[in-house]
Amino acid sequence: MTDPDTVSFTTMKDGTREDYELLARLEKPFLALTADRVLDELRRAGETSLEGYRITRLDHGLQSATRAERDGADLDWIVGALLHDIGDGLAPQNHDRLSAEVIRPFVRWDVAWVVEHHGIFQMLYYGHHYGWDRNARDRFRDHPCFDSCATFCERWDQSSFDPDYDSLRLEHFEPMVRAVFGRKAHDPAVIREGFVSALPA
Ligand SMILES: [Fe+2]
Ligand SMILES: [Fe+2]
Repeated sequence: MTDPDTVSFTTMKDGTREDYELLARLEKPFLALTADRVLDELRRAGETSLEGYRITRLDHGLQSATRAERDGADLDWIVGALLHDIGDGLAPQNHDRLSAEVIRPFVRWDVAWVVEHHGIFQMLYYGHHYGWDRNARDRFRDHPCFDSCATFCERWDQSSFDPDYDSLRLEHFEPMVRAVFGRKAHDPAVIREGFVSALPA
């Protein structure tokens, strides 16, 4: 006799309809806690950080998001700025793409694109010091999100390593994270595929 709160199978192909209905039911409260797990990861980024920088990875995200908010950016941009490096911990060599996948179901398309590509755009500021092509971003010159990504990096990312900047606290951004992750995932009305929103000038 199996526990009524667990499935009967040990291999997925043997699962019954009841098993999968049970899993679908139990997945709902798990999905509802995504925002909490994201916030936990941000807090972790304030504890285990990259050596050498003058601020923690959490502080960098807070500073980026604060700059975005003070520039008059909308909710999607602010949360995108806050979470643009959330993938640092698990995918340090690929963090931009992981960060984009975390937010992609819940934010506008252009915000996810910018977060996905910010790594290559950021090379403009330091790539030459390693002998890399600092203009590698130019391969996206014709992409409709090119200007947004360039502005995002210039105003909110590369500028946000200042230990003296008065960033807003994580508590300020928590309701915004909850609002974004509380949206229906992959909702076309949220994603607005192909639409490019103007960043504040
Ligand atoms: Fe980054
Ligand atoms: Fe960053």
